[in-house]
Amino acid sequence: MKILVTGGAGFIGSNFVRYILKKYPGYKIVNLDKLTYAGNLENLKEVEGNTDYTFVQGDILDGKLIASLLEGTHPATCREPLTTIINFAAESHVDRSIEDPASFVKTNVLGTQVLLDAARKAWATPGHRFIQVSTDEVYGSLGPTGYFTEETPLAPNSPYSASKTGADLMVRAYFETFGFPGIITRCSNNYGPYHFPEKLIPLIITNALEGKSLPVYGDGQNVRDWLHVEDHCSAIDAVLHKGKTGEVYNIGGNNEWKNIDIVNLICDILDERLKVPGQPQGTAPTRSLIKFIKDRPGHDRRYAIDSSKIKKDLGWTPKYTFEQGLKETIDWFLENREWWQGIKSGEYLKYYEKNYMSR
Ligand code: NAD
Ligand code: TYD
Repeated sequence: MKILVTGGAGFIGSNFVRYILKKYPGYKIVNLDKLTYAGNLENLKEVEGNTDYTFVQGDILDGKLIASLLEGTHPATCREPLTTIINFAAESHVDRSIEDPASFVKTNVLGTQVLLDAARKAWATPGHRFIQVSTDEVYGSLGPTGYFTEETPLAPNSPYSASKTGADLMVRAYFETFGFPGIITRCSNNYGPYHFPEKLIPLIITNALEGKSLPVYGDGQNVRDWLHVEDHCSAIDAVLHKGKTGEVYNIGGNNEWKNIDIVNLICDILDERLKVPGQPQGTAPTRSLIKFIKDRPGHDRRYAIDSSKIKKDLGWTPKYTFEQGLKETIDWFLENREWWQGIKSGEYLKYYEKNYMSR
């Protein structure tokens, strides 16, 4: 398989690139990434020298560049046409989308449409596949009971989720209108190694290690359904090899947590870990660092995914329990301080001040 991965230098994309290169020697991957604040080539150090892997810096809004990659005429690549696209590239943070919705529409909606158009033109013959990596947030918010199924009406509440919905609808329209081989996956919240520390779990882990306050929005009772990033990768792998074009597949961990319970759990695991002799010394993290702050506008109350379709049709099952996955993730952050300390300076500090200091 010859795959164009977009956004492969971000959190999930980089985990996916490593996952595929390890599992399928011989598969070729071209990773196209703009390297925004969220893209980081440090995430891909492990595969830099792999001859099956090529990195190209560029924007999914650049139709000419995409065409040259798909046709195999781009000089940096293997010079073979690419048969598959997996589109991870996106602006992905809800809080940033509240500050600047336009950049979300540009990359998430328009960028996806540019990719679709380039692929439609390049792929005259059958045998191609375009996977749009979407989110459960397109379904909006749930009450205390029930689950999102693939039939749940789309009702996004944030500029981020609205832009992801726009992209999903483009993929759907290209399938219906042009018979384009698109498939949409909608996954719940991911966590794991290389998670950018503006999102809840890595923010809490790293702030606790720095002795900073642990910001919890509103009453902390909002619920998310957490899935380990490697389980998301294995689900996309199943869709890549067995998914049916024109279909939507929900992906989730059946693992609902209130935000405040996760924050408490992280504090407790960190306290336990930092007691171990030989572990690098950090400021002792405790629940006393928790600070409830002003809520996020339009904050979705609860997400919960029904992933029975992908389990039944494609035989996917997640491998991680949350207990094991979270402990391993915390250990990864303890062992990779340079990675996150490098990120949590410069541009990140400006964002942090803007989002947190006045709340
Ligand atoms: P991320 O923000 O960590 O990474 C996004 C990557 O896309 C970065 O490497 C960035 O440089 C790149 N990018 C941004 N704009 C680009 C452009 N115009 N052209 C090329 N590259 C560009 O995001 P993530 O958390 O890894 O999420 C990846 C995808 O999965 C997104 O589409 C997101 O909507 C979706 N998703 C994320 C989650 C989650 O919990 N993180 C859950 C479900 C779905
Ligand atoms: P986040 O990781 O931003 O993912 P999403 O908003 O896409 O679900 O946030 C997860 C939950 O944690 C969400 O309910 C918002 C909340 N949250 C906080 O309480 N404090 C924070 O500092 C952040 C970043 C998120």
